[in-house]
Formats: sequence, C-alpha cells, structure tokens
Amino acid sequence: ARAGYQHLMLKEIHEQPRIIRNIIQRKQSAWLPGDSFGETTCGVLLIGCGSSYHACLAGKILIERLSGIQANAELATELFDVTGSTRRYRAVIGLSQSGETADTCAALDRQRQAGFYTVAVSNVPGSRITRLAEQTILTDAGPEMSVAATKSFTAQLVTLLNMGLALPLKEPKRALDLTGELRALPARLQRILDREDAHASAARWLASFKNIICIGRGIFLPIALECALKLKEITYIHAEGCAAGELKHGTLALLSPVTPVIAFMGTDETRAQMLTAIREVKARGVPVLAIAPEGEEDLEDLADRVILLPRTDPLLQPVLAAAAAQMLAYHAALSLNLPIDNPRNLAKSVTVE
Ligand code: M6R
Repeated sequence: ARAGYQHLMLKEIHEQPRIIRNIIQRKQSAWLPGDSFGETTCGVLLIGCGSSYHACLAGKILIERLSGIQANAELATELFDVTGSTRRYRAVIGLSQSGETADTCAALDRQRQAGFYTVAVSNVPGSRITRLAEQTILTDAGPEMSVAATKSFTAQLVTLLNMGLALPLKEPKRALDLTGELRALPARLQRILDREDAHASAARWLASFKNIICIGRGIFLPIALECALKLKEITYIHAEGCAAGELKHGTLALLSPVTPVIAFMGTDETRAQMLTAIREVKARGVPVLAIAPEGEEDLEDLADRVILLPRTDPLLQPVLAAAAAQMLAYHAALSLNLPIDNPRNLAKSVTVE
C-alpha cells in the first residue's frame, strides 16, 4: 500500500501532482442554483471540520475573488443557527474528505432540513455526506489512508477554484490567465516535492522547538492554520496558526528565541504586510522560517531560513505553500521518530458528534 514510500503520508503527498492534473482537466459544470431568495440572499456558506474547514476558509476567498458572490466559512462543529431567518444562503457546501464526519453531516443535514440547497464536496463516492446532499462534487484524490489530510486538502483547494471558475466571473479574462497557470501547477508542485533535502533540513530544525507559531494573511491564513494543524497532529509539537496582523494583538507575547515563526508569504497585496510582520518578529530575536515564492531571495537577509517555492498566480500559490507545509510536518515527525500515519488519539474519520 505504501508503494515503496516509507509512510502512506509521503506516498499521498507525492500523488498530488497527478491528482491535480486530473482535477484541472475536468471542467466544473454550473453548480449553484438560481437565487430563490431574491434580494435577501447572501451567497454561499462553506462548512467543514479540521483540514476541510481550512479548505472552506480558502474557498471563501477563492469564490469571492473570482465571482464576487459572497461566501462565508464556518466550522461545522459550531454551526447551530438553522433558522435561516438571518442568512439566506443560495447553497450550503459541506466539505468532507471521508464524507463520514458526523459533525459535518449533521450540520449539513440541519441546513437541508431548514430549506437550503446543499452541496457535498467529498473524496469518497457514495459516502454519507453525498447521500444527504442535493448535489455532490467529487475531489477525486483517491483513497487517503494516512490520518493527516494531505492530497485531499490540495484537491479540495483546486476543486473549490474550479467551482469558483464555474460561477459568473467578475472578470471573465481571469479564467484565461488562470488556465495557463493551472496547467503549469502540477509540474511546479513536483519541483517542491523533489526538493526533499531543503524541507528535511528545515524540518529537523523545527523539530527542536516545543512551540511554533505559523503566520499568514489573506488566502495564506488558512495555509498557516493548516500547517499548524499538520505539525500538532503528527509531530505533537504545540503549533498555532495566527493571522499575521493579529500578532501584535496578543500572540507576540509568546514569541522568543525558543518559539519560532513560520511565515507564509503571499504574492498578492498581503506581501508588504507580511514583510512588516517578519521584521517585527525578527526585531524581537525570534527565529523565522519564511516560505515564499521565488523572487523573494532578499528574504534571506531577514529570515533565518527561507524555502523558496515556484511562483504562480496568487490564487494558486496556496496550493504550493500547502505542499511545503506538509513536507515540513512530515520530515519533522520523521526526525522525531513518531508514528506518522497513525498519530496517537486520532482516527481517520470521526463518525461521532
Ligand atoms: O473527512 P473529513 O474531511 O470530514 O475530516 C475532517 C477532519 O477530521 C480532518 O480534516 C482532520 O482534521 C485531519 N486528520 C487533519 O489532517
């Protein structure tokens, strides 16, 4: 089952270029029903748990940037409002790799019963969530066995991007710009996976710390949250994802020479603000690992370590950053000699609420 890889997680990480190539070859057909609520509508709601919730957060930004349709993301475990009186979503989209997560299924079912149109985005055909939703969009990442979500997460990101592209676009030309970048994405992702040494060396360094703070802004915030989740899950290091702009509102107090920061740099308007955040952190003697697109070589003077990733469209860059985060977490856990595919206390799918 491991196909020559030391762990299922590593095998699944390496499947990503092929999976993404397949997803982008499929054209997503129209999926959003007409606006039956008229003027009072407020777009779509994305719900999920864990990594799927992080994909919801990124999906909100992808959908809003591409289509201008308002999108919200909520934790399925915190979604209690089913009255529909305050918010009238055109669709509620439940994301679940396994399709069996009880919290997500229950929350989506409550929304369906309250009269909302429901869409399941799942990796498992015929799973519970696909049976309860009106419509299913499959992520087609193939069976994911390792407890940590990897290929299913990037497949969710690209599927959500396709869903965004299938909506009436704010700028129709945007779809054309993205087509070329999407085609180049699998090869760019492969270049990251081929740089195992760079990730392993940074990961060994990370593994020496007890606390790590991951920061990002905009569409990179979900990636920072996902990086922290991956680290907690398989390395057992306490890691926290934090919006870069929020550091000075509290988290900065935690930082010290023994509590490093992993900074996810964007290519969009968040770049300047991220540089400010990194400077702020460095001024306090805090070690920084910057994960940034090529062209940011100057960061080498500022951050302690830099991992440069191929540069792509700002809406696709998070996919590459997510792969780098997965590699870091994997190699950190490997250096700590932990049971990577079956971390303690966790199950692959959580079928109780
Ligand atoms: O199968 P689901 O996508 O519904 O699972 C949701 C979470 O349990 C899952 O993403 C979990 O957080 C992962 N193990 C994280 O790597």
